[in-house]
Amino acid sequence: MNRIPAFDYLAQYRTLESEALQAIERVLNSGRLILGAEVETFERSFTDFLGGNGRAVAVNSGTDALVVALMALEIGPGDEVITVANTAVPTVAAIRMTGATPVFCDVDEATALMDLEQLPSHLTSKTRAVIPVHLFGNVVDVERLRAIIGNSHIRIVEDCAQAHGARLRGQSVGTFGDASAFSFYPTKNLGAFGDAGLCYSQDGELAKEMKRIRMYGFDNTNCSQREGINSRMDEVQAAVLNVKLAHLADYVARRRALAAVYDRLLDARIPRLEPAAGAEHAYHLFVIKIEERDRARETLARNGVGTGVHYPYPIHLMPGYRFLGYSKGALANTETLARQVLSLPMYPELSPEAAEEISTLVNKAVL
Ligand SMILES: Cc1ncc(COP(=O)(O)O)c(C=O)c1O
Repeated sequence: MNRIPAFDYLAQYRTLESEALQAIERVLNSGRLILGAEVETFERSFTDFLGGNGRAVAVNSGTDALVVALMALEIGPGDEVITVANTAVPTVAAIRMTGATPVFCDVDEATALMDLEQLPSHLTSKTRAVIPVHLFGNVVDVERLRAIIGNSHIRIVEDCAQAHGARLRGQSVGTFGDASAFSFYPTKNLGAFGDAGLCYSQDGELAKEMKRIRMYGFDNTNCSQREGINSRMDEVQAAVLNVKLAHLADYVARRRALAAVYDRLLDARIPRLEPAAGAEHAYHLFVIKIEERDRARETLARNGVGTGVHYPYPIHLMPGYRFLGYSKGALANTETLARQVLSLPMYPELSPEAAEEISTLVNKAVL
């Protein structure tokens, strides 16, 4: 174990332990373990956090949140969904779970976000949706994306799995697209004590469909109104998330403060991913770019500092997705980033002093 790990689950758990355990006990003693008051409270509170006037549907994971949103939009076999190849695999797995075909757009080298200049060249008569990924807490300009696709039948599903608390020109991510998906995987900006996710839409009818799909296509009776799946957030996870949500704004503020320390103290010659224009970055990760990335990683590890690589293998080149027909060189910026990116420790409980020490060590390791 590194002296300063890349992520420290226990540090946050210790600060919330008694409150979280009380909340869990309350659920266990209530006898209502699935789709009860905790889930309803969380759906309302998270909607308030987003500041939108839509509707949230709590599900079992961020992957399922994407699947449920795509299903509600009736996306399936024969349809194309455009996204990026430098994301967590679940973005792509979710598209495949509907039977649709993922199409990859390259990313901007400076931000690592979908390059909207290149998007038009990927649009075809089969394109049914675009999934912009707000990677690392940075924000894709969804308004510009909307302007590019115009008033077409193409839908936008925002992947907000890494971007709780991020904003674009003052408005929360997740409230721009036709639908959006959040993950509460334990490492996320808001993390449950296991798997959990949520989909959201400003469109009441679409949200109603997502709610049906979450449980076998049911409304209030055990009679399917459409085909659905089972993807319910359980009451225990919702209770934990209700405890943590009260701290989310503070967690994001701390992430931003740590990013400011890195930004100030890292040598100016070390390139880092840039916040997109108009973005209030939520710093799920702080990512720098280094030519000799693996050597620097080893040096940092020898000094007790854990780091991560997000992501070492671009999805279009993974053996599991070879059938999509992409070859090396197809997405130049995505492939370069995969060789260079390094994620420094970033979590609300990391002290500013630790970030200072890490910056000094990175400068020494890289220059
Ligand atoms: C960008 C992105 N999309 C989707 C997901 C899927 O979320 P989950 O792990 O909750 O299924 C994740 C998290 O792993 C992610 O980082």
